[in-house]
Amino acid sequence: MAEELWAAVDQYIDDHLVRPDPVLDETRHANAAAGLPTIDVTPSQGKLLHLLARMQGATRILEIGTLGGYSTIWLARALPPDGKLLTLELDPHHAEVAASNLARAGLTSLVEIKLGPALETLSALHAQGESPFDLIFIDADKPNNSTYLACALRLSRAGTLIIVDNIVRDGEIVGPDHSDPRVDGARKVFEMLQAEPRLDATAVQTVGSKGYDGFILALVIGVA
Ligand code: SAH
Ligand code: DHB
Ligand code: MG
Repeated sequence: MAEELWAAVDQYIDDHLVRPDPVLDETRHANAAAGLPTIDVTPSQGKLLHLLARMQGATRILEIGTLGGYSTIWLARALPPDGKLLTLELDPHHAEVAASNLARAGLTSLVEIKLGPALETLSALHAQGESPFDLIFIDADKPNNSTYLACALRLSRAGTLIIVDNIVRDGEIVGPDHSDPRVDGARKVFEMLQAEPRLDATAVQTVGSKGYDGFILALVIGVA
């Protein structure tokens, strides 16, 4: 019952605040047709990412976990014509579907998909002295979340906004089961933030068409 109501209110929010968008609809259809899991951000969450990127005045965005590029499109649309979004994806099939969706969205020139394990790509970016990003969206394999946060911090400047998706997971974050590596990954993020003076953060619980979950917003207030 509650879940149905959350989904209905999500639909109401989308109907009023998310403008009809054939490109985003086609992206979701293409993802489903290609057999991708439906774990992309919801339309209202995508809109939130887009607004946050605009509030940041972001010209450089890093995304960890592309899937079919649904969140990528929302984020990239916040960029100026000379902006850049780097998105990291392990699965070649996902990357291929995303590339096609991004082409349909007319965003190929702004977005680069880096194929491979994100940890390796992040190390390489750091080693090659990649300039800091204005916004970083962490949304890949959950067990690695605290490691991704540490990597994100190395690719940040004071003022960078780091967003970590899926950190409530039906409330499992406070549940008794410590064996699920995805929940453990989320807990490690909270513990890291608790002890990290260079980041000032909060977490937002969400309900909606994807159930009960949440995300962290962390503002970089200093760098090493
Ligand atoms: N951000 C997307 C959803 C991402 S789903 C959206 O909201 O539209 C998580 C993605 O992370 C999947 O495509 C998965 O293949 C990818 N992934 C999983 N492990 C990874 C790794 N080690 N490195 C890079 N990507 C990974
Ligand atoms: C999963 C991953 C996500 O990024 C998400 O938003 C929801 C679920 C998952 O792997 O189950
Ligand atoms: Mg997610």
